[in-house]
Amino acid sequence: MAYKTLIVETQDHITLIKLNRPEALNALNSALIGELADAIDEANRDDKVRCIVITGSEKAFAAGADIKEMSEKSFVDVYMENLFADEFDRLCRSRKPIIAAVAGYALGGGCELAMACDFIIAGDNAKFGQPEINLGVIAGIGGTQRLTRFVGKSKAMDMHLTGRFMDAAEAESCGLVSRVVPAKKLMEEAMGAAAKIAEKSMVAVYAAKEAVNRSYETTLNEGILFERRLFHSLFASEDQKEGMAAFMEKREPQFRDK
Ligand code: HXC
Repeated sequence: MAYKTLIVETQDHITLIKLNRPEALNALNSALIGELADAIDEANRDDKVRCIVITGSEKAFAAGADIKEMSEKSFVDVYMENLFADEFDRLCRSRKPIIAAVAGYALGGGCELAMACDFIIAGDNAKFGQPEINLGVIAGIGGTQRLTRFVGKSKAMDMHLTGRFMDAAEAESCGLVSRVVPAKKLMEEAMGAAAKIAEKSMVAVYAAKEAVNRSYETTLNEGILFERRLFHSLFASEDQKEGMAAFMEKREPQFRDK
């Protein structure tokens, strides 16, 4: 599919989606967010794709929702169009893992987009923030909920109420990102992580993603039971037999997603 606001490339089982509105620091407008959801759906439909990476530019992952596009909207406009909600839900429904590779600004909707991915790898120049308060609004695609779960109430309140930015080191120390790497090595690291995931049994990858995500939705005991049932069910896969046999035979496993 041809995209206007994204550059999408699939190679070696990985779909790389590059947000591409450099004139607006990759601000998320309705065209971009619609195309992003389409690209994620397309990657999920493509049997060759095993992992997805979303990135921006060296200066900005995304500087938030497009303020110019939003500024004149009324309550009824945003309520009736349910601004970005359906597209975001489509992204969150991806069964294939999504890594956010963040360099530069990840602000407002950009920070929310990164947090909606499965994990974030940050360049050492990354800056995260929820500065919507400076515009007289608040986060609208999960920022108050996801940031709080990542970093706890105190820091989330600080970010949402003052609008201050968090640098990469702080983001790593409070668990917002999984790793920080030199900005120049960001894509190498992110693609390397995606390649590692792509080697695994997709049956186990899907199960691991489902189980971790369940921890957001349920009690500890229910979550552990959910995990246990998935763990048990993986013994019905050929890949479990292959993975364990390969370990014992001291060779690399040949997973077939069966
Ligand atoms: C539209 C944006 C934009 C945005 C930057 N630009 N952010 N356009 N929407 N969110 C545009 C600028 O207008 C400018 O275009 C160009 O990108 C470069 O930006 P500068 O401001 O000149 O760059 P710089 O001085 O380096 O400052 C970078 C920045 C700043 C700190 C990131 O641009 C900034 O504060 N941006 C807004 C961040 C923000 O408030 N995000 C939250 C948005 S609300 P021109 O043509 O003027 O040169 C949101 C709600 C989500 O995200 C909920 C949705 C449902």
